[in-house]
Amino acid sequence: MTLQQAELPEPSDDARAASDALTQVIAAEIAARGGWMSFARYMELALYAPGLGYYSGGSHKFGGHQSGGDFLTAPELTPLYAQALARQVAQILAASSPVVMEAGAGSGKLAADMLLALAALGCAPKCYRILELSGELRARQQATLAEQAPQFADRVEWLDELPEHYSGCLIGNEVLDAMPTHALRWEADDAGEVGEPRMLERGVGLSDGRLVEAEEPAHGALLAAAQAMPLLAPYRGEISLAARAWVSELARRLKQGAMLLIDYGLPRHELYHPLRDGGTLRCHYRHRVHEDPFWFPGLSDITSHVDFTAVAEAGFDAGLDVLGYTSQANFLLNCGIGELLGRKVGAGDDPKVVQSKANMADLRARGAVNVLISPNEMGELFKVIALGRGMPGPLLGFARADRVHAL
Ligand SMILES: C[S@@+](CC[C@H](N)C(=O)[O-])C[C@H]1O[C@@H](n2cnc3c(N)ncnc32)[C@H](O)[C@@H]1O
Repeated sequence: MTLQQAELPEPSDDARAASDALTQVIAAEIAARGGWMSFARYMELALYAPGLGYYSGGSHKFGGHQSGGDFLTAPELTPLYAQALARQVAQILAASSPVVMEAGAGSGKLAADMLLALAALGCAPKCYRILELSGELRARQQATLAEQAPQFADRVEWLDELPEHYSGCLIGNEVLDAMPTHALRWEADDAGEVGEPRMLERGVGLSDGRLVEAEEPAHGALLAAAQAMPLLAPYRGEISLAARAWVSELARRLKQGAMLLIDYGLPRHELYHPLRDGGTLRCHYRHRVHEDPFWFPGLSDITSHVDFTAVAEAGFDAGLDVLGYTSQANFLLNCGIGELLGRKVGAGDDPKVVQSKANMADLRARGAVNVLISPNEMGELFKVIALGRGMPGPLLGFARADRVHAL
């Protein structure tokens, strides 16, 4: 056990039992596969195995310390996030079709706030579709929407598969980072030169019945993807073929409109860089970050940074235009989050009056917006990319400080 693990809160007996059951499912599959499975398959089971995976089982997941959650996402922090994003979504809907599709809707908070914000802008969508892998989360989303935006109940539908074609706006907030990623190790040649590095795929094997990291030579699509990366060795890193395939499928099916993908990540030349030679695989448990994906499988979220160059390429190859790429802070400021906050807390009034009016809700709103846009918090780590087809004119969210050139 590492020091980091020693500091993690003890899981309950029920949580341990669920994790043991999942570990047995994984171990049985490893044995059936001849003793090894890719890290991507492991992550898929750890997060999405029916009834037992992190997202498909009963863990609390989203929410603050007190609520027993593991992490907070932007929509959970404040409705101002959805309100700012809604201004961009409204522009896209007006130029395409009044339909929103949200992928990976989590607790349903963004869906509820987005519907209310779009209605306030006078452009409630005809239909709000949700693509969600987890049955447990789908039920949670239904409950959130019934409680917070019941007037839109008849406009929301859950899709069981990707639509053949769609128009309007697709939103994916922190979805790509939750997709199974392959893990690799680039090994320098015998002379210690980067020249022709050996590409090894890191996966999962069994040792005395325990899950352990085990390597095999990389091959096929993964090897091809690794060979297209900057030359690095020695280096450990991740490549999410699943995220690329997903963007490419949804991009191909988009007839008119745009995809807005928001996540933590970097352009390829910054992500695959000696500064990140340990990769970006991280696990989240009760607001602690740890680096052992085999610690009680199914109890921690597992994520890795998004390669935004790969996302742009997948869209571009499917015939989409890269409409914008910037930091979350720039995007939200371009969408007017400062003004939305000002309206909420009465900025512009006499400062003394503002102070006397200040209440806990105002302080929380200011704090939340600070987290969303501060470069030391989410503002710089998170990026927004827009990929679109048939969209006239520039998008509001990228009006200033667009960084498409950096991809
Ligand atoms: C980190 S959570 C983010 C949830 C929410 N968007 C938010 O920001 O609070 C990741 C979400 O993506 C979903 N997800 C992962 N892969 C998906 C896929 N291929 N299609 C649809 N949803 C997916 C998960 O089930 C989960 O709801």
